[in-house]
Amino acid sequence: MREVAGKVALVTGGASGIGLGIARTLARAGVKVAIADIRPGALRAAAAGFAKEQLTVLTVELDVSNRTAWSNAADRVEQQLGPVEILCSNAGVNFVGATQEATYEDWDFALQINLGGAINAVRTMVPRMIANGRGGHVVITSSVSGLFTGGGAGVYVTTKYALVGLAESLRGDLKSKGIGVSVLCPGPVQSELFESTVAVRPRTLAPTGSVSIVPPGVAREATPIFTTAPTGDEIGRHVLNGIQRNDLYILTHPEIRPVLEARARALLAALPNESVDPERIAASEPLLDTSLYV
Ligand code: NAI
Repeated sequence: MREVAGKVALVTGGASGIGLGIARTLARAGVKVAIADIRPGALRAAAAGFAKEQLTVLTVELDVSNRTAWSNAADRVEQQLGPVEILCSNAGVNFVGATQEATYEDWDFALQINLGGAINAVRTMVPRMIANGRGGHVVITSSVSGLFTGGGAGVYVTTKYALVGLAESLRGDLKSKGIGVSVLCPGPVQSELFESTVAVRPRTLAPTGSVSIVPPGVAREATPIFTTAPTGDEIGRHVLNGIQRNDLYILTHPEIRPVLEARARALLAALPNESVDPERIAASEPLLDTSLYV
């Protein structure tokens, strides 16, 4: 989608951090933007920021894990702004802890928002985008945690790997519909992720086997991984470029190269060193399609 001005975008988790950065970047490029978020106070603060820049934004209170609320939210955006052509499914929560210690409640909480929220976004919005016949673009926020891991955040990593599969599959399925799909995989970014996760997590779910990545009592400002991180606006600019170029992967942190290379090498090294019957190769032809990746 080369020209974005005048299009309508819906960004979930758009009240802060990466979602807000995407929303602001799109609005500055002339896109009519709706931000959906579960935190009304954060939505109000975000709207005030837009107003300061003389930009308009439609705010929608939405829990992305709530399937029935989704169609009402979609109707509202369409009535007020017009048919959505850019969908950014970005809302998410994050916590860390040993995979085997996460409670079922930890799993359900993260799966319902990180993965379920994106499934609901796709299920609600994509058929509408197809029916509108205007084409468009979908961006799904995963993470570098959707590409590799070192352990210690198994629940989060599971949801983020799943989102890469969702985005890649959707891209294949929407190729003929004129709708592009990108998966955004950032490394650490300045945001409210740890505060918002605590705010969003139902109190009834505590106690848990998992904790915020920033331990209680440690200031975020004292944590180098965040003080050195890019801002949401910087990520927003990568996303706008990715939409305009229809990139499959939107990567924002070049320093991850050695880990990506190591993982690709490990996968290739795991292939059995044996010859394969040409008939088997021919029979597997649909499975061996490389077109999505080239
Ligand atoms: P953030 O906390 O600033 O923004 C996330 C927003 O999602 C918050 O405003 C929060 O209220 C909202 N949200 C949470 N649960 C929701 C729900 N059920 N329904 C609707 N909205 C909900 O955090 P950040 O970092 O901007 O996170 C955005 C996405 O980026 C997440 O999917 C996160 O996993 C991903 N990400 C973040 C990275 C980082 O270092 N900040 C790195 C890689 C990916």
